[in-house]
Amino acid sequence: MSETPRGVGVRVPPTADPNRTMRTLDTLVRRVAIPVALRTSRSRHPIGQVDRDLRAVVSRITVAGEGVKVFELSRADCKQFPWWFPGAHIDVVLPSGKVRQYSLNGRRDNPNQWRIAVRRIPLEAGGGGGSIEMHELEVGDALVVRGPREAFPFVFNEAGYLFVAGGIGITPILPMLRRTARRNRVPWTLVYTGRTRDSMPFLDEIAEIAGARPGNAERIHVWPDDEYGTPDAAKIISLAPAGAALYTCGPTPMIDALRRAIPDPQIDALHYERFSPPPVVAGKPFRIRLEREGVDLPVRADETALTAVRRVHPGQAYSCQQGFCGTCKVRVLEGTVEHRDRKLTDYEREGHMLLCVSRGSGTVVLDV
Ligand code: FES
Repeated sequence: MSETPRGVGVRVPPTADPNRTMRTLDTLVRRVAIPVALRTSRSRHPIGQVDRDLRAVVSRITVAGEGVKVFELSRADCKQFPWWFPGAHIDVVLPSGKVRQYSLNGRRDNPNQWRIAVRRIPLEAGGGGGSIEMHELEVGDALVVRGPREAFPFVFNEAGYLFVAGGIGITPILPMLRRTARRNRVPWTLVYTGRTRDSMPFLDEIAEIAGARPGNAERIHVWPDDEYGTPDAAKIISLAPAGAALYTCGPTPMIDALRRAIPDPQIDALHYERFSPPPVVAGKPFRIRLEREGVDLPVRADETALTAVRRVHPGQAYSCQQGFCGTCKVRVLEGTVEHRDRKLTDYEREGHMLLCVSRGSGTVVLDV
């Protein structure tokens, strides 16, 4: 079984889309993309970057459940957005300069619009303020967006699919589900969990998919915690079609429980995307010196360098906290770094580190 955290795993070309232009684009892009994916999918690698800035305008805002707003974006120059694949996300540069990543979850056949959904995370619940700023946006506000990035790539012709979404984790899963359910060529199952129905966005669109074809409704399991209790990973996995690929996005405990329940003969591949930082694994304590601030800091074994730096330097920029966006990159003046990111090239690693995932030994001196 292969396991793919956000970032790798295209294995085979897709079958055709009904829309001819899109079919051509799919084919062209895949022909270019497959060799690269095959070459890199066995090892950690930088995620492909699409760093062009696109000026966008918020064209519509709706509410999709408790604390969740859906933003439809148009290009300020009235051109079309770039083509994207299920699982893609974009960077949104907020008016404050903060950068946040959001999965594209609208319809791929509308290149005039990108759609994202954002759950508001209060500061006291550990939010960094980005979602609060997003929720303050109004129709007509301007934003800069970058991407799309294929950080959670969807493999089009698996033997079957088990989709598992927790709350706002439905956002990257929804385009995968739409495509799979529309073609209906292989068996698939969706398990969608959340605290309550009111907190689970896009239940109306899930219901549409359930009603679109005979048999779809039986494949969709909506299990709010207050009705079904905390979901059981083994029970979820037992619903997988034979040889299925598991695509999951949601809270870290849910993903960890699913990973513990595997290996399972039903599951052939695991692809997951977290929306919160992963716990530090096999971390050892080290020290950081912030040269410009003139401060020495300990970094505990179970915390990131970013957490330690933000204790004395709260303005330190960050975004994904998973080592793929590069926002937390800092210059290293001295010391040994253990690079754990999927963003920097070997060349960039000479003299830089990403604070959110990479660690050090002894003392690492930073240009901060
Ligand atoms: S915050 Fe994205 S790489 Fe560190």
